Amino acid sequence: MYTQSMSLEQQAQVQAANADEQGRLDAFQARIDAGEFIEAKDWMPAAYRKTLVRQISQHAHSEIVGMLPEGNWISRAPTLKRKAILLAKVQDEGGHGLYLYAAAETLGVSRDEMTEALLTGKAKYSSIFNYPTLTWADVGVIGWLVDGAAIMNQVPLCRCSFGPYARAMIRVCREESFHQRQGYESLLVIMQEGTAAQKAMVQDAVNRWWWPSLMMFGPPDSESQHSDQSMRWGIKRNSNDELRQKFVDACVDQAKVLGVSLPDPDLVWNEARGHWDFGAIDWDEFWRVVGGEGPCNRERLATRVRAWEEGAWVRDAALAFASKKHALKDAA
Ligand SMILES: [Fe+2]
Ligand SMILES: [Fe+2]
Repeated sequence: MYTQSMSLEQQAQVQAANADEQGRLDAFQARIDAGEFIEAKDWMPAAYRKTLVRQISQHAHSEIVGMLPEGNWISRAPTLKRKAILLAKVQDEGGHGLYLYAAAETLGVSRDEMTEALLTGKAKYSSIFNYPTLTWADVGVIGWLVDGAAIMNQVPLCRCSFGPYARAMIRVCREESFHQRQGYESLLVIMQEGTAAQKAMVQDAVNRWWWPSLMMFGPPDSESQHSDQSMRWGIKRNSNDELRQKFVDACVDQAKVLGVSLPDPDLVWNEARGHWDFGAIDWDEFWRVVGGEGPCNRERLATRVRAWEEGAWVRDAALAFASKKHALKDAA
C-alpha cells in the first residue's frame, strides 16, 4: 500500500498537512457561522469556490438570456411610456448580468470562459426564459410573477456569505422591485380599463406563466442536490420549498386585487398551516426544459450566439482603441 511505502517522516508530514487543512476548514466555517463575509482574496475551500462560480455565473447568464423574451416586445410596446419603461427594465437586466460576471471573476474564472460555457450550451440559465412571450400581457405578467419570484429568491442572497455576490445582489434587488411593480401596474391598468379581450389576454398570460414561475424556486427540498451544503456555507438562507410557499402566499392576494384567477384548482387556504396549499408541480416539464427541450431553448441560445458573433467588431474596436491608448501613453 502507498502509506506503507512512506517513511515515518513522510507520514507525519501528511498528517500535519491534513490537520492543517482541517484547521483551515474549521476556521472558515467559524467565520461563516459568525456571520462574517468571505472576500475574494480570503482563503476558501475549493468546493465553496466552485459552488459560487457555478451559481453566480448561472445567475449572470440568466440575466443576459432574460433580456430576450421581453426585448422581443420593445418595438411593439403599446405606448411610448411603456416602451421607455420596458427599455429601462431590459437594460437593467443586462446590467445585472455584468455585475454578476464581475463578481464571479473575483473567484478566478474569466469572462471568456463563462461566455463560452453559455454559448456552447454547457452552462445552464434559469429555464423560465425558455418560454415564449406571445402577447403584450406576457410582459406585465413576467414583471409581476417572474421578477416577483426572482426577488423572493434573491433577497436572501443579499446576506450571502460571499461579499462580492451579496453586495451585487443589494443593487440587483432594488431594481428587481421596480421590475415587479411596473409589471403589476401595467396589468392593473389593463384589468381596470381594458376591453374584455384585453382582460382575457392577461388571464391567458397568467395561465401560461404561473406554473413555470413556481418552478423558478428549483426542485423540491427532498430532491435538491446542492441545498444542504449551500445552507451550511451561508450561500443559501432559505430552502426552495420555503421560498416557493412565500411566493404563492403573496401572489394569491395580488391576483385577487388584479381580478385574475391562478390556474390551480387545488389552491386552498390551510388554516392549520397558515399558508395556501397548492397543486402538484409538473417536475417532468421542469426537467425537460432544463434538459434543453423547452419551447424556446434553441432559439434563445442561437440568438445569444448570433449576438456574440455580430458583436465581434465592437470587441475588436474596443481592444484596438485600448491598445492605441496604451501605446500613446507609453510614448508620452
Ligand atoms: Fe435581473
Ligand atoms: Fe428583473
